[in-house]
Amino acid sequence: ESLQTIHTEAVGPDYVSKNHKPEATVSTAVSFPNVHVLAQTPQLIALLTMIRDVNTDRADFIFYSNRIIRLLVEESLNHLPVIAHEINTPVGRSYAGVMFQGKICGVSIMRAGEAMEQGLRDCCRSVRIGKILIQRDEETCMPKLFYDKLPEDISDRWVLLLDPMFATGGSATMAVDVLKSRGVPEDRILFVNLIASPEGINVFAKKFPKLRVVTAFIDQGLDEKNYIVPGLGDFGDRFYTL
Ligand code: URA
Repeated sequence: ESLQTIHTEAVGPDYVSKNHKPEATVSTAVSFPNVHVLAQTPQLIALLTMIRDVNTDRADFIFYSNRIIRLLVEESLNHLPVIAHEINTPVGRSYAGVMFQGKICGVSIMRAGEAMEQGLRDCCRSVRIGKILIQRDEETCMPKLFYDKLPEDISDRWVLLLDPMFATGGSATMAVDVLKSRGVPEDRILFVNLIASPEGINVFAKKFPKLRVVTAFIDQGLDEKNYIVPGLGDFGDRFYTL
């Protein structure tokens, strides 16, 4: 059952009058200070339309997902601290700029999170990337940590936790607990995903109020199998299998 009402808005460039813009479903609004939803621009809505479409083939799914992932990584990087950095230009002037201060790493929740690694590498040269494998325990039906490989100095780094679909937040909660147990402060974790559910967002806002969530879209809800709706189906299947 869906928890939220669908929010439809006219989308398009500002030179087009509102009644000539197409209506599209945009992200559900939430008011948690730690949740950052990408601007619902016509480009983003068009990219999401492509990857949600059941008729989009694997090559297009990968191409358009990668464009959204790139936007998410760029937005996430805007949350990292910078310090003043003045430089000289080739024409003999100075420029008062900034530079990133600190170390980062990516941590992908396998398997679907690995699809986001390239987008991070494209933005951050030779970035360290760790991995966490969490699967449902056959006996207890609870998420269980099967494997992790994380940079040994992860407690000194900002962590971009990568998982494309933020559904119930079961695996993500376990992944955050692993990161915290390795000494990563909650406020240095950014959980980056393409589509989130209101349920997942609410769980995280209560459980991890200092962790930031960066997402492209908060959907209507979850179905009885805990798929996000309207969603896009199984991200890993669509990205990795023909
Ligand atoms: N994981 C997916 O791939 N899709 C969903 O809808 C939920 C979790």
